Amino acid sequence: MKTTLDLLKMKKETDRITMITAYDYPAAKQAEAAGIDMILVGDSLGNVVLGYDSTVQVKLEDMIHHGKAVRRGAPNTFVVVDMPFMSYHVSLEESLKNAAALFQETNAQALKIEGGSKENITLIKRLQDAGIPIVAHLGLTPQTFNVLGGYKVQGRDKETAKQLTEDAKAVASAGAIALVLECVPLELAEVITNEIDIPTIGIGAGVHCDGQVLVYHDVMQYGVDRLPKFVKTYADFNGAGVEAITNYVNDVKGGTFPSEEYSFLLKDRSILE
Ligand code: KIV
Ligand code: NA
Repeated sequence: MKTTLDLLKMKKETDRITMITAYDYPAAKQAEAAGIDMILVGDSLGNVVLGYDSTVQVKLEDMIHHGKAVRRGAPNTFVVVDMPFMSYHVSLEESLKNAAALFQETNAQALKIEGGSKENITLIKRLQDAGIPIVAHLGLTPQTFNVLGGYKVQGRDKETAKQLTEDAKAVASAGAIALVLECVPLELAEVITNEIDIPTIGIGAGVHCDGQVLVYHDVMQYGVDRLPKFVKTYADFNGAGVEAITNYVNDVKGGTFPSEEYSFLLKDRSILE
């Protein structure tokens, strides 16, 4: 299993960090079998697994439930779990309690929080101090899409680009172990990556980040119908799944399944007489 020190070393040696989301036992098993560096139990769980229209509806209990399943499927992979909406905004005390519960119950290697506010900087320091490594997440932060005015590329103008760079430096100095950059122009992601010592992990942030993360269901085309521009797909689970179920339905309707091959036979039929 990778450690936070390995991740820093990978940045220094420009050995790209690979990360994919997972929300359950089978996907976690696949990711570990493929040798992925890190798994993210993202609160995108809400969109791609639970069918909500945003991550805002995801609860701490949901993250714990799915985080535990991922841990069981990938016992030897670095697992990061998202702190969900409002689980770290009420008070420092409440945030620390929620982080402790999520970290302990899921037995993860790190937690992730969105945003670079002063309160988040304090929280990152306190959690780091307590032994809970934090991955920061800047750029498009889906938990605040209602405030951002939708899902848009962030840091396109001088002012917001400067703010993003400052936030990145602030979370890095606070002790964050890595930084997810979501939907940021590749030139800005390159500047940020060069300015901080911790690895950047991009999603819609170009090739200059130290690593890359994608959502499992996007990569596999599994349940999702519309894909963002930055997603490259590597499988077609939608097509394969519908085809498989259609064939199964036709076999049952046509009486070709279950054939004798899939049935149990009595050794002595006379016992029924
Ligand atoms: O929840 C998630 O999947 C994420 C990634 C998009 C980074 O936070
Ligand atoms: Na997330």
